[in-house]
Amino acid sequence: MKEEACRVITNTIIQGRYYLMKLESSHISENSKPGNFVMVAVSGSNDPLLKRPFGIFKTDPPYFYIYYEVVGKGSELLASKMTGDLVMVVGPLGNTFPEYENENILLVGGGRGIAPLYFAIEQYSGSNNLSLIYGARSKDDLLFTEEIGKFALKEKAFYTDDGSGFTKGQVTTDIKEIIERNGINITFSCGPDKMFESLNSEIGSLGISNFVSMEAFMGCGFGICYSCVVKGSDGKYKKVCSDGPVFRMEEIKWQI
Ligand SMILES: Cc1cc2nc3c(=O)[nH]c(=O)nc-3n(C[C@H](O)[C@H](O)[C@H](O)COP(=O)(O)OP(=O)(O)OC[C@H]3O[C@@H](n4cnc5c(N)ncnc54)[C@H](O)[C@@H]3O)c2cc1C
Ligand code: FES
Repeated sequence: MKEEACRVITNTIIQGRYYLMKLESSHISENSKPGNFVMVAVSGSNDPLLKRPFGIFKTDPPYFYIYYEVVGKGSELLASKMTGDLVMVVGPLGNTFPEYENENILLVGGGRGIAPLYFAIEQYSGSNNLSLIYGARSKDDLLFTEEIGKFALKEKAFYTDDGSGFTKGQVTTDIKEIIERNGINITFSCGPDKMFESLNSEIGSLGISNFVSMEAFMGCGFGICYSCVVKGSDGKYKKVCSDGPVFRMEEIKWQI
């Protein structure tokens, strides 16, 4: 882990409030794996003081990409960065999805949670049979479906809450059938906590290995401030930044 000034190569609006930023760093692009994240200083001043965490979307050394949604002050500042600007970045941070070979893995993405899963598709679609379930509120929030279509996935299913553009439903709508049809024994998911809670109810007791990549508010990003803790099923608190962000689903105490 080190902090470095990374040059912004492009910062492109993909749709609405969603952006793809390409940054230059040999260190981050060569050392990141799916699940890793970076802490990005969104402003050159002390306002906001804290760096913001973003998952690695893909790498193409010496470049890496983050895919982000503008939700508040920090991400809005990030959206204003121009080609050639320098931003301070720490990374790669956190753990990664486990690496497998010749397994039937189902990726489950909710909204911007597609970021680390896109990286997993790029990295692991040659060495494993991957399937994907990807859902969002509407078609305007379900991005990169065309790019994903170019990968050899065993099955892909896209859902929107409002039925726009894709099948009306949620990531859990057909998940049990998809798991059975594709002989899935491992899942990797990333999305909002509510999605994880539904996933835990639907597939938590199927006897397969489920890994979740979680989001949390972060101060430092490397284990010293405790601002990112979540409650574990053993009653102990876990730091999303340094114990995660990837956890076995059964390690976390879900609300429902
Ligand atoms: C490991 C990790 C990976 C992440 N990867 C991505 C990514 O690839 N793309 C992406 O767009 N975002 C990602 N996030 C979330 C991102 O860090 C937040 O959206 C960002 O920090 C918001 O900063 P802000 O200043 O714009 O918003 P703020 O002003 O801080 O908050 C604005 C709104 O967003 C909500 N919010 C802020 N942070 C989070 C959070 N961590 N989880 C849920 N809600 C939050 C707040 O409740 C508030 O409603 C990731 C978070 C973590 C911990
Ligand atoms: S963000 Fe500081 S301990 Fe996790």
